[in-house]
Amino acid sequence: MRMYDIIKKKRDGFELTKEELEFFAKGAAEGFIPDYQLSALLMAIYFKGMSKRETADLTLAMAQSGDTVDLSDLGAVTADKHSTGGVGDKTTLIVAPIVASCGVSVAKMSGRGLGHTGGTVDKLESIPGYKTTLDREEFFDVVKKTGMSVIGQSGNLAPADKKLYALRDVTATVESIPLIASSIMSKKLAAGAECIVLDVKIGSGAFMKTDEQARALAREMIDIGSAAGRRTAAVLSNMDTPLGAAVGNSLEVIEAIETLKGGGPDDLKELCLTLAANMLVLAGKGDYEACFNLAQEILASGKAYETFKACVSAQGGNPDYIENTDLFEKAQFSCEVLAQTDGYISAMDAERIGTAACLLGAGRKTKEDSIDFAAGLEIKAKTGTKICKGETLAILYANDERLFDAAKTEYAAAIAIGNEPVEIQAVVIGSMR
Ligand code: URA
Repeated sequence: MRMYDIIKKKRDGFELTKEELEFFAKGAAEGFIPDYQLSALLMAIYFKGMSKRETADLTLAMAQSGDTVDLSDLGAVTADKHSTGGVGDKTTLIVAPIVASCGVSVAKMSGRGLGHTGGTVDKLESIPGYKTTLDREEFFDVVKKTGMSVIGQSGNLAPADKKLYALRDVTATVESIPLIASSIMSKKLAAGAECIVLDVKIGSGAFMKTDEQARALAREMIDIGSAAGRRTAAVLSNMDTPLGAAVGNSLEVIEAIETLKGGGPDDLKELCLTLAANMLVLAGKGDYEACFNLAQEILASGKAYETFKACVSAQGGNPDYIENTDLFEKAQFSCEVLAQTDGYISAMDAERIGTAACLLGAGRKTKEDSIDFAAGLEIKAKTGTKICKGETLAILYANDERLFDAAKTEYAAAIAIGNEPVEIQAVVIGSMR
């Protein structure tokens, strides 16, 4: 089998066979297909798409490209969540401890930033000492001890995705339903949880810009999960504005900790409770209303905060930073983006806001790039807010002052200001089974 022929076949709009997709996944995992050919096929898939059958075959080939985890040893029902990617999305840091505090184990492998979106692993690495790589025994020990563990896509789990994810991040091939569905579901199937809740984002900061695309992606993923015998559901959520106020790694961890301590922005809290409730429903903890109330009580009681702190500690992180977030290293420089006119914020381009954070150092330009944990931004006015000329729209943080100009221009371009009041959209748009 030749990679050249597979690329040409997809480029010309034909369906790939199961064997061809297995060859592609194996070649990505084992490194015998060079990056330029992998990237060429990714671009062909981006333009020509894949059938449902091709997506399912690719997902299984990617899931089986490395180790699969058997979570049955944990002796508890297990639940997982995954976001399709957004800006300011720190939900895992809040949802996992809520669900774990309700007696459902969360043994989770998360990703790094992708394109303009952030990744949970990068965020967690901003906590000094936190190890995002654990061996199987350590990973299970942390879950048994604290009810949860969040690590990176460790060792040999879905290595085909690890390779393709990093290439997609730098070749503008992220926004594709078959590529997102196979990327997410290969990891979820390999990671072994019985219950899977997918947070499918819709809007300017999401990879899926329309309701229709997001529903198609959700359907594809739910069907793959269900066919593999996993209880799978999706929450559709709004990504027309970033979630919460903080964008950037340690800034988002701080906001998540504030939420676990009982504060935090309302949109973030609402989405976290919705995701947690859906995970608890799938795990058999009751109907939706009962599970939502349970999640709310657990968050308000401080138990989820304690669980998060215990997990951070068990993974080598310094719990003092969780107790006192002032300890997080701050960026050396900050600058404000000011409103140029009076009016109401009528729209935010969340993707451009994510890009502004990346320009400040919070994301990667190439897959070898390191990121600056303290870089990012704090949103001071979101869609619907009435503002006056000269008021602060956002504060940008960086360790290199030269990065401000481009980021400031990007942020300002992301904000539309109109004369009329606008209706604020709900963060939770719907759910699917
Ligand atoms: N998250 C993933 O894991 N993969 C994608 O392709 C997009 C978001």
